[in-house]
Amino acid sequence: MDASTDRPRVFVARVIPEDGLAPIRSACEADVWEGDGPPPRAELLRRVAGCAGILSLLTDRVDDELLDAAGPGLRVVSNFAVGYDNVDVAACARRGVAVGNTPGVLTESTADLAFALILAAARRVAEGDRFVRAGRWTTWGPMLLLGTEVHGATLGIVGLGRIGQAVARRAAGFGMTVLYHGRTRAPEAVEAALGATWVGLDELLTRSDVVSLHVPLTPGTRGLIDARALARMRPTAILVNTARGPIVDGAALAAALRDGTIAGAGLDVTDPEPIRPDDPLLGLDNCIVVPHIASATRATRGRMAQMAAANLLAGVRGEPLPTPVEPPMIGR
Ligand code: DGY
Repeated sequence: MDASTDRPRVFVARVIPEDGLAPIRSACEADVWEGDGPPPRAELLRRVAGCAGILSLLTDRVDDELLDAAGPGLRVVSNFAVGYDNVDVAACARRGVAVGNTPGVLTESTADLAFALILAAARRVAEGDRFVRAGRWTTWGPMLLLGTEVHGATLGIVGLGRIGQAVARRAAGFGMTVLYHGRTRAPEAVEAALGATWVGLDELLTRSDVVSLHVPLTPGTRGLIDARALARMRPTAILVNTARGPIVDGAALAAALRDGTIAGAGLDVTDPEPIRPDDPLLGLDNCIVVPHIASATRATRGRMAQMAAANLLAGVRGEPLPTPVEPPMIGR
């Protein structure tokens, strides 16, 4: 609480859309980090001291150190993302600090980008654009930039949560066969509506023309797509990751793309983020990398801001959060 105003003090770790900032500013003493990038750690630790709420981003690590720095008055951490692998939820729970995220509102935008990457990687769109800009387009060529067909192909979805299901719905329009893998099977009605068939991970990797990842980052999914998994994929296959970078072993992926183990990859997420300029993946024409923009539409970011604000405000008032995180995470 700010003693002079009786309004709760909160720290907002980046400028977010006004849809979220306005309600926060009208109800709280809000300290908003205005930098282009995340607050440096020391600054973050200093600025959260005495706050009742923190609006964090996936670039902010919320752990014991941060919670200690905030102090005993902290009531809520509202993460501006559906994924919350940056938040130590158990450490928050031990202190009675509620944690919220932004599920649902970014599902369709993320599925759109997953599909954009599927199409771009399979049909070599970025490579073609570079080819033209380099002045190398001299004639129509019967063998020029041949890619993988998406229509009628087999799509393997790893993680049939909200976003995985939205990708499966898009796949129907392309006449794709949809396989999926998850720790648990989706209800029969969901499988039937999506025309999706559960298979083991190895079978999915072996049979799919396109593999799209939609699992949260947990100890169980870190490094899930490693050299062994990549070796099971088809030499014509495409791997798309819009989930979290560490789910894929980046060095193994670079090797697989270089030696033709798989045909291409589309990555919205990398490990680390941002990807280092000298990362081998950036030297490969068959790898598309975009900077974690799956939810980056004006409308979606506005909805995420509203939702993150609603969680923050409920938390500082001691009310139940509209969208609390529910560990363990099951699909995103
Ligand atoms: C999320 O919300 O987890 C995305 O990765 C960022 O929008």
